[in-house]
Amino acid sequence: MVDALRACPHLKFLGIHFHIGSQITDMEVYKSLCIRVNEMQDWFTDHGFEVKLLNTGGGLGVDYYNPDTNGISDFESYFKVFKDFLNVKPGQEVHFELGRALVAQSSALISRVLYVKNGQKKNFLVLDAGMTELIRPMLYQAYHEIENLSRGGSGSPEVRKSESQESKPAANCQLPTAHYDIVGPICESTDCFRKDVELPQSYRGDIIAIRTTGAYGEVMASGYNLRDRVGSIYSE
Ligand SMILES: Cc1ncc(COP(=O)(O)O)c(C=O)c1O
Repeated sequence: MVDALRACPHLKFLGIHFHIGSQITDMEVYKSLCIRVNEMQDWFTDHGFEVKLLNTGGGLGVDYYNPDTNGISDFESYFKVFKDFLNVKPGQEVHFELGRALVAQSSALISRVLYVKNGQKKNFLVLDAGMTELIRPMLYQAYHEIENLSRGGSGSPEVRKSESQESKPAANCQLPTAHYDIVGPICESTDCFRKDVELPQSYRGDIIAIRTTGAYGEVMASGYNLRDRVGSIYSE
């Protein structure tokens, strides 16, 4: 490898960039990573290459199951591991590329129920959002919390305030519930956000929030079936 690098006049060795995966919340994994990277940079230094930068990639996980109660990833422990175990040389740059942990919990995909289909064995909520707006569940069975904001969903206060108060029962009121497959309108086999979700009894026109969609949501959206791209609404 050293010979190959030296033989390529148009390649300049700057540093080491690594990305070991996503949704990692076990800090021991990052500790092992630091130890391995320390070995690698020693190897490069011993072979006469100056390691000017270390890029640690991304990967810190978010809690898709508890967006309200655990909405902020453990950045403190994450950065402490790198501070304690990554061997940073004087003058060296360290880059972090956290993606999901920074933005995932900041957004929800807000959709409206187009149709409630009550079958003999299953009920379906057909939304006006589908795999074109959020493909993660269909592509790799990703989990997202889903709630009915029109029937006392636990959405953020900002979201809840914007809903009409008359149509919303008190949050602590016990509503009858039902189980639904939450699906999009695009394709009858693939276009399913989640199966068998227990929600308050839901109706056509209800507003549904699919949570934790700030990462790998809009950026992976498509115009499949000539569907228009949905807009984003930002609030403070
Ligand atoms: C090279 C690189 N850096 C950073 C990231 C961001 O990862 P995450 O969103 O899990 O933090 C990715 C995601 O695949 C990646 O491939």
